[in-house]
Amino acid sequence: MNETDKRLAALAAIKEIQPGMVVGLGTGSTAAFAIEALGERVRGGLAIRAVATSLATEAHARAVGITLIDLPAEIDLTIDGADEIDDGLRAIKGAGGAMLREKIVAAASKRMVVIADGSKRVAAIGAAKIPVETLPFAQGFVAARLEKLGGAPVLRAGFVTDQGNCILDCRFAADTDKELLAAQIDAIPGALGHGLFLTEVDAAYIAADGVVTRLERGARTR
Ligand code: 5RP
Repeated sequence: MNETDKRLAALAAIKEIQPGMVVGLGTGSTAAFAIEALGERVRGGLAIRAVATSLATEAHARAVGITLIDLPAEIDLTIDGADEIDDGLRAIKGAGGAMLREKIVAAASKRMVVIADGSKRVAAIGAAKIPVETLPFAQGFVAARLEKLGGAPVLRAGFVTDQGNCILDCRFAADTDKELLAAQIDAIPGALGHGLFLTEVDAAYIAADGVVTRLERGARTR
């Protein structure tokens, strides 16, 4: 992972933010670069309002002067990180444990942009663990169901989500059908959200060795 590239990707993405927009703010170290840079623009006079995807992001955004609002029906643009992303803009998220709110914010967004350094870009997603936010009451049940689906769930030790839930990190065979898997996890009672973002991402800014590449759903531009 490369901090300079994370920052470059973040700086490229925040250029999309226009006055008056409602902006979704992602979670993680790459999103933090975007929040920092957006804060600078806000202090310079840019009028936007933002929605945070985690308590950590909320605190960071407030600290840099960004006005936060509750989740509205529609968000203009969301900028967030990812753990893996492929050229079809299918992503795995949630190493930071915020994927439930991130998925809701992505769903509310007219446009969702992923920012990442080059280490996150993969030929096909699937090597990363897929995190599943789970109601603590249902932990054993959900773990058993995930095992039945071919996963190997491991409780993220000492971690509690912003909603007070636990996370089961789950490895699946790389060639698992992700669309089917997402639907199957969605159908487990007590599984509240997961890190498969198969349709939500509209574009990605990926920086590798100082060069930013923009991927757009359905097209590719550099
Ligand atoms: C948090 C996330 C993060 O966006 C993802 O884990 C990437 O984080 P980082 O930019 O620190 O590598 O999905 O739930």
